Amino acid sequence: ISLAAVVPAAGVGSRMGLNHPKQYLKIGDKTILEHTLSKLSQVDTINQIIVAVSDEDGYFENLNLDNLNVTRVSGGKERADSVLNALKSLRSNPPEWVLVHDAARPLVDIADIDNLISSCINAGEGGILACRVKDTIKKGNTHSEHTVPRDQLWQALTPQLFPYQVLLQSLESALEDGALITDEASAMERANQPVQLVCGRSDNIKITTPEDHALACFLMEQQQK
Ligand code: CTP
Ligand code: MG
Repeated sequence: ISLAAVVPAAGVGSRMGLNHPKQYLKIGDKTILEHTLSKLSQVDTINQIIVAVSDEDGYFENLNLDNLNVTRVSGGKERADSVLNALKSLRSNPPEWVLVHDAARPLVDIADIDNLISSCINAGEGGILACRVKDTIKKGNTHSEHTVPRDQLWQALTPQLFPYQVLLQSLESALEDGALITDEASAMERANQPVQLVCGRSDNIKITTPEDHALACFLMEQQQK
């Protein structure tokens, strides 16, 4: 199958509160972004990885990417703009499928990625890794107004895998309309395209705050045992 991976890595990581983007924080002896790219390159069906990086980013060029098939493109203002830039860079030689994975999720399980890919290819429709919400969810502002039934609630993870052309068009039109797009699936839902929910491990966390980083260091050590 013809499948390219896109990694949005152009964020500043404001919630981490460092003076450099969080994707360059280390977990053990490698940066978060190096871990993420190394995971993706271990997936047999991924032939090519496009990474969206900010033009002001002076860290990316110093990463140790060995012989990974990685191409750098410019990031954009929001995550969706970064993904769209990466998709556009593939226009001249479009893949059939595109798998989008956050730079900030280095703990993703390779078997989960394989599972997502085979689910989507077999069904001929896109999908995302997701896990069922475990907590009791409250709606409200300063006081809880009610408890949201969680039997139909899922937490969206990445990777998210979609047919390339459909994702490109859906993302372009969503951004033109100024819709709030925080993942690829939201653009696909808006375009009435199917989004399969494929159960993934809940330890595929997005490293956002210092607490997440501490947890990620522990989880990565367990994974590497
Ligand atoms: N991202 C991107 N381009 C942007 C914003 C985010 O490529 N303009 C990427 C981030 O680098 C990250 C992923 O999208 O890998 C998920 O975003 P998030 O966790 O929100 O990262 P940041 O935007 O960097 O963090 P923060 O929101 O705390 O500033
Ligand atoms: Mg952000």
